[in-house]
Amino acid sequence: MEKEKFTLGLELPTDPRWINIAEKNIKDILVDHAYCEQKAASSCMSLIINFPEMDEMVKVMTPVVAEEWSHFERVLEQLEKRGYKLGFQRKDEYVSQLMKLEIKGGSRKFQLMEKLLINALIEARSCERFKQLHLHIQDEELKKFYYELMVSEAGHYKNFLKLAESYQPKEEVRKRWAELLEAEAEIMKNLEVREDRLH
Ligand SMILES: [Fe+2]
Ligand SMILES: [Fe+2]
Repeated sequence: MEKEKFTLGLELPTDPRWINIAEKNIKDILVDHAYCEQKAASSCMSLIINFPEMDEMVKVMTPVVAEEWSHFERVLEQLEKRGYKLGFQRKDEYVSQLMKLEIKGGSRKFQLMEKLLINALIEARSCERFKQLHLHIQDEELKKFYYELMVSEAGHYKNFLKLAESYQPKEEVRKRWAELLEAEAEIMKNLEVREDRLH
């Protein structure tokens, strides 16, 4: 219960070294963050485009696209306020490794479950990182900003999991989720701690 509350089920908490260096490199963190929001919006759009027959998913995901895009806009505002420019997207090692966990093939609903669960992992980890930023960052405005995003991404994480459970048997989803959590922790453990990445 306690673990669920603090890490959304994640097996490995964020390395404290990252928390220490993130604020000192807030420009890079914000730029990387902006693209995370863009990718979140794009990923929800892809789900809608690729699985248009899944009525409930389309209904749930449509407002999430707008929400993620508004997060993108809000990160841009924070960059602008600090006199920083967006710049080009950087390679997202975390997400590309997560994508490799996806099991291809099977029924349409199974494929959808795989994608929903991987999205849920990204939401859970982002939420955990926003919480760390909220707790440890000195900048009062960003402190508040990260708190709001933390709450929003936690809602998305729940949406993805709930949707997965409506398309595949609950037990199967839970089992796969546990496997993915373990794999995500392994990826995190082996990922270089970088001051210029959100993950
Ligand atoms: Fe977001
Ligand atoms: Fe999100």
